[in-house]
Amino acid sequence: MAETRILTKEDTDTAAAMLLAGRLVAFPTETVYGLGADATNGRAVAAIYVAKGRPSFNPLIVHVPDVTAARGIAEFDPQADALAEAFWPGALTMVLPLRARSGISPLVTAGLDTVAVRVPSGATARQILRLSAVPIAAPSANPSGRISPSEARHVVAGLQGRVDAILDGGRCPVGLESTIVGFDPAPRLLRPGGIASEEIEAVLGQGLGGAGAAITAPGQLASHYAPKSALRLNVEAPLEGESYLGFGRKDATLNLSETGDLAEAAANLFGHLHLLDALGRSISIAPIPEIGLGRAINDRLRRAAAPRDRAS
Ligand code: TXA
Ligand code: MG
Repeated sequence: MAETRILTKEDTDTAAAMLLAGRLVAFPTETVYGLGADATNGRAVAAIYVAKGRPSFNPLIVHVPDVTAARGIAEFDPQADALAEAFWPGALTMVLPLRARSGISPLVTAGLDTVAVRVPSGATARQILRLSAVPIAAPSANPSGRISPSEARHVVAGLQGRVDAILDGGRCPVGLESTIVGFDPAPRLLRPGGIASEEIEAVLGQGLGGAGAAITAPGQLASHYAPKSALRLNVEAPLEGESYLGFGRKDATLNLSETGDLAEAAANLFGHLHLLDALGRSISIAPIPEIGLGRAINDRLRRAAAPRDRAS
């Protein structure tokens, strides 16, 4: 691929026109940057897999501007309705039965009879979705197996020359990917993310089951989200020569949140990992409490620290 155009947040009309023309455009959502393509255009979707080096069995999330558009591609039951009402637009993805004649390319769902759908809340993403008026397939805009991008420069570092455009809309405020919920038909947490599972359980009035064998998010391979440097988790005191990623009142190379605020820590997570990775030293990381957004942070950290031989 030739040159990657860098767009500004005023260029949403250009971004939408490029997407409609079958091009790949990276743009910010409130969670992380996504690598977008027209979900109804098989060739455009195929180009996502090529640009990311992503295994083709790993399906993509479809982004739409509102619940009405979501109903055009997926079938909602009352529990899905309740979650859409409570959390959209926002950092929730639901895996639902794919509607007949949805127009979604089978490459998006990797041949499954379900589709992952989300209505993002980020203003730039919403504008692009409204202007393009087609469902947009968008995985996180990182090379497969690498840390997700929460800033445009992360996308530039990973994908420049492999995508048609990158829209720089600043930092993503949530900083972690969306929470994914599937139904079998009981609601299950397929990936912890930007909305705490406790909040979802409160709306449903019941607990979320775990992913289980029958229904899983195929992207949840053990060593997803890996930085290049080695990682050690739950470290109270770093070793000599290590970079230390702190949380709470700690002397650290970088701190996720000096006040111990989990939302601030989530927003800083990928950016700080990108920065520490660039230092080239081993990275040790302070313990993060396993509550609320801490679950999603720890999930990403465990994957980042896992052995690399299964990296996708
Ligand atoms: O916040 C986010 O969700 C970001 C932004 C760009 O929206 N997107 C994102 O996409 O994280 P991606 O492709 O990196 O992760 C999508 C996850 C993968 O683990 C994939 O396996 C799962 O969603 N997934 C997609 N369709 C599915 C389906 N039909 N059934 C089960 N899992 C599915
Ligand atoms: Mg991803």
